[in-house]
Amino acid sequence: MIQIFKSLEELNENAATIFLTAAQKAIEEKGRFTAVLTGGSSPAGLYKLLASETYKSKIDWSKVYIFWGDERWVPLDNELSNAKMSFETFLSHVPIPKNNIFPMYRDGISATDFAVEYEKSIRNILGDEGQFDLILLGMGDDGHTASLFPGEAVLHEKTKWVDAYWLAPQNMHRITLTAPLINKAAKIIVIAFGEKKAPALKEVAEGDYNPEKYPMQLIKPVSGQLLFLVDTKAAGTMS
Ligand code: 6PG
Repeated sequence: MIQIFKSLEELNENAATIFLTAAQKAIEEKGRFTAVLTGGSSPAGLYKLLASETYKSKIDWSKVYIFWGDERWVPLDNELSNAKMSFETFLSHVPIPKNNIFPMYRDGISATDFAVEYEKSIRNILGDEGQFDLILLGMGDDGHTASLFPGEAVLHEKTKWVDAYWLAPQNMHRITLTAPLINKAAKIIVIAFGEKKAPALKEVAEGDYNPEKYPMQLIKPVSGQLLFLVDTKAAGTMS
């Protein structure tokens, strides 16, 4: 389902309400809320809203668990780090217990070995079912999501929950949740705005099924809900 908003402010308010509602429901029903954050620049407005008094006071943060959907394999103080952006705009401003936050990076270990560790961390919290309550995703101008990039072998991963690889076009290692794990989620929200997203979004939503070129198309929840929150610029000429 795609919801189109006239302004980024309205889009972020809706995204924050979805996050808040999902958190309150999960905490009420299960005593905890497990969420996956996206990197990139798109979620910054949402993260700042969640850290604002309006929303911050409405969630029992002591029962929230935070993972990431993907990471650039760089130290946590590196400007490219998705975790750094998330802490600066959001996590440093809400009282989530440190042990409930799982940055997708550690010094002194390879990305490949850490991917195995990260999967164990997820299993410890979610169990073998592996269902997150909420996963936030962005979408690249090329139709990638998380670190599921066009033409990469990770698009065909069927069993691993977390994988890492050398992303040659960006000259860096990436670590990412795989499509099979993402698709187990109860709710997946994709945030995409701006006219640069329009060509890929149209292909993803209305084009032929071609996930090798548009990996966003791999995201099809097994039993959960997938919701695209986009602005009119990203919706472009979609019918
Ligand atoms: C990353 C992100 C990535 C991001 C898209 C969109 O590590 O880059 O996780 O998947 O969501 O590239 O990026 P923007 O939000 O900056 O457009």
